[in-house]
Amino acid sequence: MLNVSEIRKDFPILNRKVNGKPLIYFDNAATSQTPQQVIDVIVDYYSNYNANIHRGVHSLSQEATDAYEQARLKIQKHFNAKHPYEVIFTSGTTHGINLVANGFSSLLKKGDEIIVSALEHHSNIVPWQMLCERTGASLKVIPMNESGELILSKYDTLLNENTKLVFVNHISNALGTINPIETIIEKAHKVGAAILVDGAQSCPHIKPDVQKLDVDFYVCSAHKLCGPTGVGMLYGKEDWLKKLPPYQGGGEMIAEVTFEKTTYADLPHKFEAGTPNISGGIAFGAAIDYMNSIGFDNIAAYEHELLDYATQQLQQIEGLKIYGTAKEKTSVISFNVGTIHPYDVGTILDKMGIAVRTGHHCAQPIMDFYKIPGTIRASFMFYNTKEEIDTFVAALKKAIMMLS
Ligand code: ALA
Repeated sequence: MLNVSEIRKDFPILNRKVNGKPLIYFDNAATSQTPQQVIDVIVDYYSNYNANIHRGVHSLSQEATDAYEQARLKIQKHFNAKHPYEVIFTSGTTHGINLVANGFSSLLKKGDEIIVSALEHHSNIVPWQMLCERTGASLKVIPMNESGELILSKYDTLLNENTKLVFVNHISNALGTINPIETIIEKAHKVGAAILVDGAQSCPHIKPDVQKLDVDFYVCSAHKLCGPTGVGMLYGKEDWLKKLPPYQGGGEMIAEVTFEKTTYADLPHKFEAGTPNISGGIAFGAAIDYMNSIGFDNIAAYEHELLDYATQQLQQIEGLKIYGTAKEKTSVISFNVGTIHPYDVGTILDKMGIAVRTGHHCAQPIMDFYKIPGTIRASFMFYNTKEEIDTFVAALKKAIMMLS
């Protein structure tokens, strides 16, 4: 059981007003809010030991390096990677995906096939299209059904000996569908393909075990799980990370540089050129500590209650249609009301202090599937309450009246 009123005290932003009304923050799938425990870590870093890492013999640099590497260990433990050097710090999910896509440029050839799903965010579509353009490989898509679930029987028909890579998100950002990644991974491996799972939307709700999943690559962003923006991680199996060439050249990623030839550093530094987001990495570790102190089982159970409660209430509203009704869903509700434009609803809700996301959610193929320009999306985290949902539903009814 969660003590939500105590938890809410950790989030200073939840006390503020927006347009004169107490903030109700239902845009958690875009970014989560940051608890004081994580904010304190960032302030402490800049107040007390701001220095570049892996580069100095002086005390501040050592302290910063130790804290950064401690954070890597926390991330390793949380996701159950076998080795700390299989955890690469990135600027976020998009960076991690592009790093892998770039690396495969030299490993693919014409005739090879890549599979993505119909439920992907643009960041898990565009880099693979660019990879196909570079290599001559072709892109295949696992289709979805009306409920927003992937049609796995179609996935079976796409897999063959030419399939080299499969990319799928764990949870759809636009609909909240939880994909059966265990099965998808197993089937990809049966034909010898590598698989990357985009965990941007699942990392705040589910604690994945990358070894048990046997996934080849897993990417996520810290800001989705109460950490700061601008930092994330790529997990890759050691063998794959060794096979892939470096993504960016620069300091930190080298073993030796001469004008004739440069040799590269070992993992993880081979993929970490330049000064990283040091405070962000350390705060990522703190965010993981924070989430684990609440407990992922508690989080999932409570968020499911919020999802069911909000779904029931929204279903009572005449003309409201929910997009994404998968059996396995996380706390995301995408919907429209009649022909009212999502943007108009979002604007009126904002006047009442309520933050939701409106638009195509960087998932235009999903919107095209439903033949709509976009949706209104409410997404909940463990610090939201049923009272907030009541206020949101009442405000939504008012907005509908104003716009009808
Ligand atoms: N991809 C993020 C979202 O779904 C930004 O809102």
